[in-house]
Formats: sequence, C-alpha cells, structure tokens
Amino acid sequence: MRVSWSSLLADVRACEKCALCRGRMNVVPGEGDPNADLMFIGEGPGAEEDRLGRPFVGRSGELLTKMIHAIGLERSEVYICNVVKCRPPGNRNPAPEEAEMCLPYLRGQVALVRPKVIALLGRVACQYTLREQISITRDHGRWFERKGVWMMPTFHPAALLRDPAKKREAWEDFQKLRDKLREVQHG
Ligand code: URA
Ligand code: SF4
Repeated sequence: MRVSWSSLLADVRACEKCALCRGRMNVVPGEGDPNADLMFIGEGPGAEEDRLGRPFVGRSGELLTKMIHAIGLERSEVYICNVVKCRPPGNRNPAPEEAEMCLPYLRGQVALVRPKVIALLGRVACQYTLREQISITRDHGRWFERKGVWMMPTFHPAALLRDPAKKREAWEDFQKLRDKLREVQHG
C-alpha cells in the first residue's frame, strides 16, 4: 500500500524505532522534487545535516551539489535522501538493525517519488537497496534494473573528498546518469 507524504513525514519525524533516535538533534527525512525523475540515496546524516534537518548540506553535500549542477540540474529538481534518517554517532556506518528499521521510510519515499533513475552514493546505500555485495571500485557506473527503475552505484562524495583522484570516474558516472535520464525522459 502506498503511504501519503504527510503520514510518512509525520511518522519519520516522530520515529523512535531504533537507537539512533537518542543521539539526534533533527530527523533528516530528505528533500527535493517529490516527483523527481532522479533520486540520490546516501548513507545517513552527518553533523551539519543533523543540525539543520536537511540532507547533504555539509562538505559532502557541497560536492554533491556541484556535481548535480554539472549535469545541468538544480537540487530542487532531484530528490535527495539517505538510508537512515538520524545521524549515526561519530558518522559511523548505520548498524544493520538500524538500517532495517529505517528502510520502510526509504521504500515509501521511492514509492511516492517514483524516480526513473536512482544514484546510490557509496556501498551502504547499495547494500540496502540492491541487496547484493557491491564493491564501488568494481561496480560504480554499472546499471541495475529493479522493477523498471535504473539504479547505479557510484562514489559517496566523502570518498571523493578523501581521494580526489576518483573524481574523474565519478564524473563519468554522473554523465551516465544524465544520459540515462535523457533516454528515459525522451524514449
Ligand atoms: N553523507 C550522507 O550519506 N548523507 C548526508 O546527508 C550527508 C552526508
Ligand atoms: Fe527511526 Fe530511522 Fe531515526 Fe531509526 S534512524 S529512529 S528508524 S527514523
């Protein structure tokens, strides 16, 4: 059954289903065009995201925003969210039980937005969506089709900040995103 945006957002804002609720300042549900053709899925909020209640607004977010602009889009034209909606302490990876408790919200968001193309930012995003063992080094830029939606693993912007040499490959992935989007929009 498809939830409504208002009930999904009310549920996620009040959520105490996993231990991550205890350390949060703000829940970070996601933002952007609720009917976007392109969705970005990250891992979980960092310090700045937790402080502001918005996804990808820190250093990683700045880079992601630049890359979105580089393929001719604005943040307001895509939808941006994360696997977990509350900040893992010290930016550790979400524990499997935390991710599993939070996943119904992400599934609800995908069902409501109905994106045609999804960019999976880093291994954690891939792990809980594709349900396959993904290596970003090996699998970035590959397309996975799931129920008519095109999904592509690519580098998490934090990984690009740590190792700028990967930016060239990430840029190629983003061009593939742009091309796929054109293809599905125009046939
Ligand atoms: N990293 C993520 O995975 N998500 C954010 O929202 C910010 C940083
Ligand atoms: Fe709820 Fe997700 Fe936050 Fe856990 S991370 S408390 S499941 S919204």
